[in-house]
Amino acid sequence: MKLNGKVALVTGSSGGIGQGIAIRLAEEGAKVVVNYRSNPQGAEQTLDAIQKIGGDCKMLDGFCDYDRGYAIGADLGMVDDVKKLIAESIEYFGAIDILVNNAGIEKHADFWDVTEQDFDAVMNINFKGVFFATQFFVKHQIEQGKQNGRIINISSVHEDLPFPHFTSYCASKGALKMMMRNLSVELGALGITINNVAPGAIETPINKQLLNNPAQLEPLLKNIPLGRLGQPDDVSAVVAFLASDDARYITGSTVVVDGGLLWNYQEQ
Ligand code: BGC
Repeated sequence: MKLNGKVALVTGSSGGIGQGIAIRLAEEGAKVVVNYRSNPQGAEQTLDAIQKIGGDCKMLDGFCDYDRGYAIGADLGMVDDVKKLIAESIEYFGAIDILVNNAGIEKHADFWDVTEQDFDAVMNINFKGVFFATQFFVKHQIEQGKQNGRIINISSVHEDLPFPHFTSYCASKGALKMMMRNLSVELGALGITINNVAPGAIETPINKQLLNNPAQLEPLLKNIPLGRLGQPDDVSAVVAFLASDDARYITGSTVVVDGGLLWNYQEQ
């Protein structure tokens, strides 16, 4: 178990990639704070899966008491919520060692039709929330005098690659890339590493529209050299590695998990 004794907070872990990451980190031995915004049932499913992993959770009347996992509702787009999320996680498990900034949204629109409301929603959840979650986490690491914090941002191939009709999404992921590079320098002396994982097309709810549209899906599959969409597990395996001690000398990097899409992408 690579993450025994560690506590991880995974934002946006009520479904999709975040759910896969939360479960994988628990499989590696971590205690996990699950976070949701609008899908408490999804968070409950994530907790159930963590419960089934068993480990050192206490059994009460035949049920695990969720000692290995805990769910907190918080909107990553609201800094007050983010602050409470970090504080409540620390209160519940005593510390956070691994922060996985996963929560994210995207909105499709022609550039000239993007509303201020949609722009703010994307930037607040995908970037501002990550910025302040990371800041509160770093303050906690400083207070604890710890020297081995891990920050992993779930970015996208679109931190580099244009994605027409998703300009605010791309801008938010590009911002994440530069935040990560800056902090790799600034946080090095604190022993904190920070890296991005950049998924390509992964089979999750964010891609529902794509998955239900063969006219869009088939050409996309042709652009993926490995010939298939990614699965949440393809991403969570990399996150588990970056969170572990094996990755102690990696900071300031983006690991692309996309089946080769980035170097073979053509907009249809
Ligand atoms: C987006 C998906 C898209 C994929 C590949 C991801 O970042 O969330 O909607 O299919 O990139 O373009």
